[in-house]
Amino acid sequence: MNLLLLGSGGREHALAWKIAQSPLLDMLYIAPGNAGTAACGANLDIDILDFEAVKKIVLEKNIDLVLVGPEEPLVRGIYDFFKTDKQLSDIPLVGPSKGAAALEGSKDFAKEFMIKNGIPTARYATFTKETVERGIAFLKTLAAPYVLKADGLAAGKGVVIPNTLAEAESTLREMLLEEKFGAASRKVVIEEFLHGIELSVFALTDGKSFHILPEAKDYKRIGENDTGNNTGGMGAVSPVPFADAAFLDKVKQRIIIPTIKGLKKEKLEYCGFIFVGLMNCDGEPKVIEYNVRMGDPETEVVMPRIKSDLVELLMAIAKKELGQTTLEIDERTAATVMLVSGGYPDKYEKGKVITGMENVSESIVFHAGTKREVNAVVSNGGRVLAVTSYGKTLKEAVANSYKSITHIDFEKKYFRRDIGKDVGA
Ligand code: AMP
Ligand code: GLY
Repeated sequence: MNLLLLGSGGREHALAWKIAQSPLLDMLYIAPGNAGTAACGANLDIDILDFEAVKKIVLEKNIDLVLVGPEEPLVRGIYDFFKTDKQLSDIPLVGPSKGAAALEGSKDFAKEFMIKNGIPTARYATFTKETVERGIAFLKTLAAPYVLKADGLAAGKGVVIPNTLAEAESTLREMLLEEKFGAASRKVVIEEFLHGIELSVFALTDGKSFHILPEAKDYKRIGENDTGNNTGGMGAVSPVPFADAAFLDKVKQRIIIPTIKGLKKEKLEYCGFIFVGLMNCDGEPKVIEYNVRMGDPETEVVMPRIKSDLVELLMAIAKKELGQTTLEIDERTAATVMLVSGGYPDKYEKGKVITGMENVSESIVFHAGTKREVNAVVSNGGRVLAVTSYGKTLKEAVANSYKSITHIDFEKKYFRRDIGKDVGA
């Protein structure tokens, strides 16, 4: 079969790496891809938000299945575009419908969905410019710190956590009255701050059955010991030591099952990955957010831990027969460390020549922001490479990645040296 994967980051390289191992695959295309995905298939340089351009490729290349990596095409309705197009309606696209993708595209929708379906989450209320004063009154009912979320997609930057009530009030006014995050903050969700430790759980579903994939913990801040600005993710580990069987069973019973049932009940068509961002509050899981895709860099540790054939699972999803498949997991730990451009997540330079990747033998080097130039691979984004390793223990997996990193270089390379440390590495 011929498969088209949409996206261009480390997540897509990890998915492409996994897909390319399948004996069921004839040809893998990645659009637009990066220098790493080019080793797993053929990159196609198109704009994936231009659905007509995606259609052209699907027909031209005789694509049998499309897998969508990032959220934006999903939130904009690529699933519905396929379903309602005469030439595409028989070609399965793995990803949720536009209605279901609102779980990520609208924080207000996601919160309402959780409350309706009895899924544990932080207490909240939603406000608009007309109700800003009520928002301020609501803030006064909460304890510091305060959590304010732009309702819409804001490239991962739409959450503000002020420490004082005064700051929270002025942030709320800026978000609602001055559209601090553009149209995304026309509505603002204010919620109770949850204390605990975060992790991510992923499910793969055909809308009827599901498999729970290995859980992961990512490291969002740029600085060691979780300091400094938020990033797209500086590293990840899987499994997560504190997520024991009892905790994961609570996640399944209280969150995953009610989520799938709720989607079905509300006739929100969903196939593909569901990413649940969770807080472990003294052993009780509460949902922080849904994403309608895999995480990045979580995918770079989750895919290496899946033993089953991903293409077989994707084909089963297309036929709504996921319940007839099994999921086999690698018991080893996987850890990934992100190499980023100096200055990221603020200003940084691209186009730096990357050397030494060929000398890495004990890790998998997933490309995030890279591009091939005539004689070299160069950096092409803030997050450049994710260096993933296996280990019998977390300590060993992390140590292997740090050893491999010593071989790789590019100007102003930066990485965190404490990935996994807080959970025992
Ligand atoms: P989100 O975009 O919803 O994932 O939020 C970004 C980050 O803000 C999360 O990864 C958490 O670290 C933090 N966060 C969001 N909501 C809460 C909350 N209710 N309590 C504590 N931290 C939160
Ligand atoms: N690593 C977090 C995300 O992919 O949203």
